[in-house]
Amino acid sequence: MIERAVIDSIVESANSSIVDIISDYVSLKKRGANYIGCCPFHNEKTGSFTVSPAKGIYKCFGCGKAGNSLSFVMDHDHLTFVEAVKFLGKRVGIEVKEKELTPEMKEAQSHRESLSTVMEFAHKKFISNLWDTDEGRVVGMAYFRHRGFTDNTIKEFGLGYSMQQHNAFTTDALNAGYKIEYLSETGLTIVGENNYQADRFWGRVMFPIHSISGKIIAFGGRVMQTSAKTAKYLNSPEYELYHKSDVVYGIFQAKNEIIRQDKCYLVEGYTDVISMHQSGITNVIASCGTSLTTNQIKLIQRFTNNMTVLYDGDFAGIKASLRGIDMILKEGMNVKVLLLPDGEDPDSFALKHTAEEFVEYINSHQTDFIQFKASVLLKDAENDPQRKSAAVNSIVESIAAVQDLILREYYVKECAKLMDIREDVIYQVLQKRVVADAQRTATEQHNQQVRQNLANQQAKARASLANSFQQTTVAPTNPDTTLSGLEQAAQNIAEQQQMEAADFANPYFREEQEILRFFLKYMHCELSYNDKVSTVGAYIKECLECDNYKSLDPVFNSIFEFYTEKPDAPLNSYTASSNLDMVKRVIELTSDTIELSKMHKRYGVIEPEEASLDELIPKTVSQLRYKYVQQTINDLTQRIASCTDSEQQESLTREYMNWLNVRKGIASTLGERMW
Ligand code: CTP
Ligand code: MN
Repeated sequence: MIERAVIDSIVESANSSIVDIISDYVSLKKRGANYIGCCPFHNEKTGSFTVSPAKGIYKCFGCGKAGNSLSFVMDHDHLTFVEAVKFLGKRVGIEVKEKELTPEMKEAQSHRESLSTVMEFAHKKFISNLWDTDEGRVVGMAYFRHRGFTDNTIKEFGLGYSMQQHNAFTTDALNAGYKIEYLSETGLTIVGENNYQADRFWGRVMFPIHSISGKIIAFGGRVMQTSAKTAKYLNSPEYELYHKSDVVYGIFQAKNEIIRQDKCYLVEGYTDVISMHQSGITNVIASCGTSLTTNQIKLIQRFTNNMTVLYDGDFAGIKASLRGIDMILKEGMNVKVLLLPDGEDPDSFALKHTAEEFVEYINSHQTDFIQFKASVLLKDAENDPQRKSAAVNSIVESIAAVQDLILREYYVKECAKLMDIREDVIYQVLQKRVVADAQRTATEQHNQQVRQNLANQQAKARASLANSFQQTTVAPTNPDTTLSGLEQAAQNIAEQQQMEAADFANPYFREEQEILRFFLKYMHCELSYNDKVSTVGAYIKECLECDNYKSLDPVFNSIFEFYTEKPDAPLNSYTASSNLDMVKRVIELTSDTIELSKMHKRYGVIEPEEASLDELIPKTVSQLRYKYVQQTINDLTQRIASCTDSEQQESLTREYMNWLNVRKGIASTLGERMW
C-alpha cells in the first residue's frame, strides 16, 4: 500500500546515510574509507563490523551478516519489509502516505491486516474511553492513579478502559464499518446463537500486548475489584496474530535497554513490568504468570543471554517455578534469581524504591540459579533421605543443562557442599544424565545439520561481499585503510572455510554464483556464441533449461525465476521482492566493485570482463554443466554396480553411455576454449 516511487526514494536515501542510521545502534569509528564498530548481531569485543558509506552497505567479518540500511533495520529490529520502510521513512524524513482505501481495496486487504486494523481500532477506543469519557476518568483512571501509574506511564504502555455497558465496543466498531467476522476472530466480540453479540471486555482496565515491532496483538483486561467469582484478568484468545506461547509481555518497550545492558529482568505480571519501568528500570519483561516456552526464550535470546528472574517470596510459588527455570538454563541462558523481601512483589518494591536502590538490591541479593535451587530443595528435604535424593537428582538435572564445563565443575562442588554428598557421587549421577540427554538430542542434531547446510550456502554468498570490502580496504595508496597482515590472514581463512562448507552443502555453489552474477549484470548484453547471436539472459536460460537444471539453493532458483520472468525489474530488488535472502544475494552479486572472480583470475583474464562475455559466459556455464554431468555419471556408476536386476542394469548402462557422450561434448567445448 506504499507507492513504489516512495519506497525507492526512502531506501536510496537510507542507503546513502547508512552511517547515520547504523550509528543509532552501534558506535562507529572511521577507518579509512569505511567505518568500524562492534557487531550488533553477535557478541564481540573488537570491532569487525564494517560500514561502507560509499557503497551504502555493511558487512561483519565476524559473523558474516551483510546488507544495506533496509536489511539492517529488518534484521536488527525484527521488522517486516513494510515496517522497515516506514521506519526508515521517518528516519530520513520522507513521509509515507499510504494510499487511501476504497471499500473494494478494504475488501481485498489481507486477512492479517484486517485483524490488525480491528485491534488498532480497539486500542484507540480503549484509550479514548479512559481519557475522554466521564466513566473512564472516574473509574479507570482513578484505578490507575490508585496503583501509582503516571500519565506518561499510562501513555507509554497504551493502557485503556472498557466501558461497563456490555456491548458498547461492538456497537461502535460495527458502526465504524468493522466486520463482525474480524471482531469475532480477534475475540473482541463474543458471538453466540440468535445473533447474540457482546463485548469480551467490559468494565475492565485494559493492558494492550504488543508484538516485538509494536503492533497491538492482544489485550489483558483486569477487573478493578477482585472477587472470588471473576477471574482477575481476562485475556484475548489465541488467533492468527496472537500465539500466547510466542509472545513476551513488555519486550517492545524493553528491547533497546535489554540490548544496551545485555541483560533482562523477568517478572510475572503486567503491573510488575509497568511499575519497574516507571521507576526507571526498563529492561523488564513478563512471563504472564506461566513458565516460559522455548519460543519465548529464543525471542529473548535475540537480545540478550543474561536473565535475572525476580520472585516474590512465596515458597510454594517458588518451588512450582523451578522447573521453568531449568528450561531457560537448557536454552543456554545465564540465569540468576532474586528473592524479594517477604510480602513484596516487583510492583510494590518498585513503587517504594528508586531505580538505583532497586538495582543495588538486585545486585547484592541475586544468586546463581543452581545455588538457589539447592537451598530451596534442601529446606524442603530436611533430614528425609528419600527427599534428599530427589533433590540431588533435580539439581543435577539443572547442572547438566549448564554448557560451560568449568562452571559445571564449580556447581558440582557447590552442590556437594550444600547437600553434604561426595563429589564423585554427584559426578556419577551427572554422567548418567548427560548420556541420556545426549541420546535424546542426537536426532534433533541430525535435523539441525540439514538446516545448517542450507545456512552455509548463504554464508558463502556473504563471503563474496567481503571481497568487495577487501578491495577498498587494502588499497595501497592509503596506509590507514590497510588491514593488518594478521587480520587479512584470518579473513582469508574464514572465507576459505565458508567456501568449503558451502561446497559441501552444494557442490555447484561457486559456478552457480558466477552464472547468477553474469545473468544479473549483463542480462541484456549481446552474446555471440557458435555464430549465433542472442543475449546473455537468453543464453543462460537456454543452457540451464536444456539440462533441466535446478539448483539445490532455493535463493538461486528464486532469483533466477524472478528475473527470467521480469527482466526489467530493478536490480536493487528491494522493490521487486521482500524476500530478504534474495535482496541480499542480489546486492552482493551486483555490487560494482566486486573483485574479478577467482575463477577469472585462474584463467588469466585481465581485460575488463564486459569485453569478454562471449568467452567467459559459455565457459562458466560449461564448467557448471561439466560438474553436474560428472556427478550424474558418478551416481549412475554406483547404481549400476549395486543393481541386481539385469534388465534394469542394461537400461542404466544405456543412460550412462548417453551421459558419457554429453560429457565428451562439454569437455571439447571447454578444451577448445581453455587450453
Ligand atoms: N494472569 C492471567 N489471568 C489471571 C491471573 C493472572 O492472565 N486470572 C497473568 C497476567 O498476565 C498477570 C500475571 O499472570 O499479569 C501475574 O499474575 P498476578 O501476579 O496475579 O497479576 P499482576 O499483574 O501482578 O496484577 P495485580 O498486581 O494487579 O494483582
Ligand atoms: Mn502484582
